[in-house]
Amino acid sequence: MHAAIYRNKGPAAEVLRVAPRPLPDVRAGEVRVKLAFSGVNPSDVKSRAGLTSKAMDWPEVIPHSDGAGVIDAVGPNMAPDAIGRRVWLFNAQWGRAHGTAAEYVALPAQQVVPLPDGASFEVGASIGIPLMTAFHAVVACGSLHGRTVLVPGAAGSVGWYAAQLARQAGARVIASVSGDEKARLAREAGADLVVNYKTEDLGARVRALTGGRGADCIIDVDAAANVQHYGELLAFGGKAVIYGSGGAHIPAPFRPLIMGFATLYFFIVYRLPAEALRHTIDGVTGLLERGTLKHPAVAVYDLEQIAAAHERVEQGANAKVLVRL
Ligand SMILES: NC(=O)c1ccc[n+]([C@@H]2O[C@H](COP(=O)([O-])OP(=O)(O)OC[C@H]3O[C@@H](n4cnc5c(N)ncnc54)[C@H](OP(=O)(O)O)[C@@H]3O)[C@@H](O)[C@H]2O)c1
Repeated sequence: MHAAIYRNKGPAAEVLRVAPRPLPDVRAGEVRVKLAFSGVNPSDVKSRAGLTSKAMDWPEVIPHSDGAGVIDAVGPNMAPDAIGRRVWLFNAQWGRAHGTAAEYVALPAQQVVPLPDGASFEVGASIGIPLMTAFHAVVACGSLHGRTVLVPGAAGSVGWYAAQLARQAGARVIASVSGDEKARLAREAGADLVVNYKTEDLGARVRALTGGRGADCIIDVDAAANVQHYGELLAFGGKAVIYGSGGAHIPAPFRPLIMGFATLYFFIVYRLPAEALRHTIDGVTGLLERGTLKHPAVAVYDLEQIAAAHERVEQGANAKVLVRL
């Protein structure tokens, strides 16, 4: 099979290349998927660039956690009826060297989920990290009916789904974005109100839009930038659900947070506890079966263009970047 690999961390064009590799063996408890698309996420790109850790955890890495395709083999002692099933998968390169930027991947069967008939392989490869993260974030907000949710970055991969799910849960959604095109996308995702955080005072605008109360929940893409304003942005007893940060340290202001009885909740989708993971997979499956979600526009690259695909994510894609296998 062909796979994208890197043996050192660094800039995409310097370290990524495509090479022939043996078809992965399928061990007990695993299934092998012939991939149609691999999804590229910021986390894959940051790992390859050495931003998460400079050290290589394995001599060679096939990147990417998300993907979709068809099961072509199952491990010993497993029923063969899964062969031929359309699937999406998650966490492929979490704690493992071999991810989805390859024609085949072998994974524990519990990381491989049936893809409902109405969902394309492009959708299947777009949802692992973004939709699972958005789903858990919205659940973590608690009951949202009649509440206000602030979604910074609602035009981004996670934010796009978070805005839709919060809206579907009955919330009024305020999005914060950096420009007109992202404002349009945020509205398309269901944002009721959009604030340009580059040109407007976000805290003042959110207080004005909520009659002085603040938002009940923030689903935050950039805690490093926004945490200093949480006292102003959050309603009394509000909660910030934090899945991203533009910096390694977040300068949280103690007094406004303690006076506002604020809750800060951090999570990473790779390590969802078993019950939350089950709930998320079931929820995502239900959403795909109902077909009620809008999915982002995709930007598709061939495997040979792997470096360009990573660079597109680094530049801020405004689309879901996929690699076609
Ligand atoms: N915890 C987890 O499990 C988890 C899961 C998925 C992603 N993440 C992390 O979350 C981040 C976003 O991932 P993604 O896939 O959604 O990326 P993405 O598709 O690139 O979207 C990020 C969006 O956030 C916007 N943004 C950045 N800083 C902002 C700010 N201060 N206020 C408002 N909007 C802001 C960006 O646009 P502008 O820069 O133009 O504003 C962009 O539209 C990444 O850092 C990623 O590593 C974490």
